[in-house]
Amino acid sequence: MIEKVLAIETSCDDTSVAIVDRSGWVHSVVAASQDLEHELYGGIVPEIAARNHSIALIPLIEEAFKKAGMSWKDVQGIAVTNRPGLIGALIVGLVTAKSLAQAKKLPFLGVNHLEGHLLAPFLRDAQYAPPEDFDYPYVGLAISGGHTSLYQIRGLGDYRVLGATKDDAAGECFDKFAKMAGLGFPGGVRIDQMAKTGNPEAFEFPRSMIHDETFDMSFSGLKSAGQRMIEQLGPELVQEQLPDLCASFQEAIVDVLLAKLDRAAKVFKAKRVILTGGVSANSRLRARAQEWADKKGLSLVIPPIRYCTDNAAMIGYAGILRLNAGEVSSLDLGPSPQALATDFR
Ligand code: KG4
Ligand code: ZN
Repeated sequence: MIEKVLAIETSCDDTSVAIVDRSGWVHSVVAASQDLEHELYGGIVPEIAARNHSIALIPLIEEAFKKAGMSWKDVQGIAVTNRPGLIGALIVGLVTAKSLAQAKKLPFLGVNHLEGHLLAPFLRDAQYAPPEDFDYPYVGLAISGGHTSLYQIRGLGDYRVLGATKDDAAGECFDKFAKMAGLGFPGGVRIDQMAKTGNPEAFEFPRSMIHDETFDMSFSGLKSAGQRMIEQLGPELVQEQLPDLCASFQEAIVDVLLAKLDRAAKVFKAKRVILTGGVSANSRLRARAQEWADKKGLSLVIPPIRYCTDNAAMIGYAGILRLNAGEVSSLDLGPSPQALATDFR
């Protein structure tokens, strides 16, 4: 039985390392954000992300051990994100994990990043634990800069995709609108802040596919509507009405996400639902989701923000469960920009 793993996450722009045990306890999780470097370009530059991972990763591994008060003799395996993600960024984490696995004679496993997000509610530390009765099955909405998908999670490795965005991810939509409105990158958190004093009904934005019978979503129409609105108003009015603009734009995204979550909870008679991924840090979404869950008598789990955004702890937990189920990757494992067909049903 593997008690603890070292976990590495480099699929996008955050370098993260964690030490996690098989109960989900996070002994340490450390990260290096690259936001400042990418802000210069208004979005993530894949080559810069990969280069920064290669600079940050080894020192972070040392830091993760130090923070946990542990050393290599305390871990029995290595988990690493190998899909989906930016290929150059994934390579850095994967090559490092393979080299360390070989040098330290440890088994290693390539993990699907989204599985990490979906299992994040099970993580625990001194400040967070899932509700005592939290267990499979549950419905999960994974919302980030790269993904917006709804799943039914029935057990380890048993994830059914119910629907997904047909075009832009919700986080991407937040980030693009923020950029157009002059709020910088990454924009989600800035829109969230700005929206707090705004009126969500001040501007009318489209809610594409909200009444559609599927669990799919679309945010590109909203993004274009946002762009048109900003062009029509001009820079001065945009500045003046920024809180109202942000609140109205944010409300359109939250409305769509909650409508789809509500439909999924109903159709699959869910008792438990989770929100995960960077966008679940959004304060308006969290408040309205809680209100909705209370009204419907559902148990809603939103992991703390440190486990919602990209982090290695969630990768470690998914990895240790699978390693203990007998899975192991071979040294010729490659990275993949997409999930594997076998990852989901
Ligand atoms: O999961 P994540 O850290 O990385 C990806 O896998 O993409 O998600 C990042 C996304 C970004 O688009 C960011 O703007 C968004 O999450 N985000 C937010 C908030 N905090 C982060 N979006 C809306 N409101 C927030 N408070
Ligand atoms: Zn993610």
